[in-house]
Amino acid sequence: MRTTLRDFIKSSALAGFGALILPNSLFSYPNHKKNAKKVRLGFIAMGMRGQVLLQEMIRRDDVDIMAIADPDPGMLQRGQQLLKNGNRPPAREFGKGDYDYQNLLKEADIDAVLIASPWEWHKTQAVEAMYARKIVGLEVAGAITLKECWEYVKAYEETRVPIMVLENVCYRRDVMAVLQMVRKGMFGEVIHGQGGYLHDLRGVLFNDGVTPYNSGVEFGEKASAKPNGAPTTM
Ligand SMILES: NC(=O)c1ccc[n+]([C@@H]2O[C@H](COP(=O)([O-])OP(=O)(O)OC[C@H]3O[C@@H](n4cnc5c(N)ncnc54)[C@H](O)[C@@H]3O)[C@@H](O)[C@H]2O)c1
Repeated sequence: MRTTLRDFIKSSALAGFGALILPNSLFSYPNHKKNAKKVRLGFIAMGMRGQVLLQEMIRRDDVDIMAIADPDPGMLQRGQQLLKNGNRPPAREFGKGDYDYQNLLKEADIDAVLIASPWEWHKTQAVEAMYARKIVGLEVAGAITLKECWEYVKAYEETRVPIMVLENVCYRRDVMAVLQMVRKGMFGEVIHGQGGYLHDLRGVLFNDGVTPYNSGVEFGEKASAKPNGAPTTM
């Protein structure tokens, strides 16, 4: 079947739209409070990524931030400061060690959690959250082994609690374009795929010890355009 540019753009736009319907599915989750106008969020881990997610959520008037869990008191304090800067009330803190997030999960007034902890914690925290009936938004990677992937499947089948991996790069224009090309059969039958992630993080991994992103992060073409790796600013 021949695909015109018009068809291609139409289906890409629809696929992109799919990424935007999460709030609706949140509100339509059967256990969600009837007629709720706001999602009541808890955060598990308030490191660099957790703080980015928190800033995004502070911008939304359909989200209340109820609680944050992180064993690092400095990170909890940074989260509280972001809330204060955004004219939000302080969140309840769960900072008594690595397992205090479990007490956050017991809180009845939390509908959903955003998890941005180190990888080795993802499966444990996300699966426990599902069994605690908290909808989960989970930063990448989610699982380290195939066995862990099956534990998510089992948890979903037993609880029906929605979970979404928050990998934003999947929704980037060029990545979605390739997805659409695959779906349209433009490469024929795909039997094997192999890819790399053009994400130059040298400025983060070898930062100046003062600012985490001091010399910038580059994606896609920009990352590959610097084979000799002179760091650029964001
Ligand atoms: N989607 C993206 O673009 C993107 C970007 C950056 C990071 N990430 C992902 O976000 C996650 C966190 O990365 P980061 O850069 O914020 O790392 P980070 O080291 O800055 O933050 C991790 C935080 O987790 C906390 N933590 C550790 N154990 C915990 C526990 N048991 N309970 C609660 N909190 C705990 C730490 O104290 C720390 O504050 C990683 O999975 C990373 O891959 C995603």
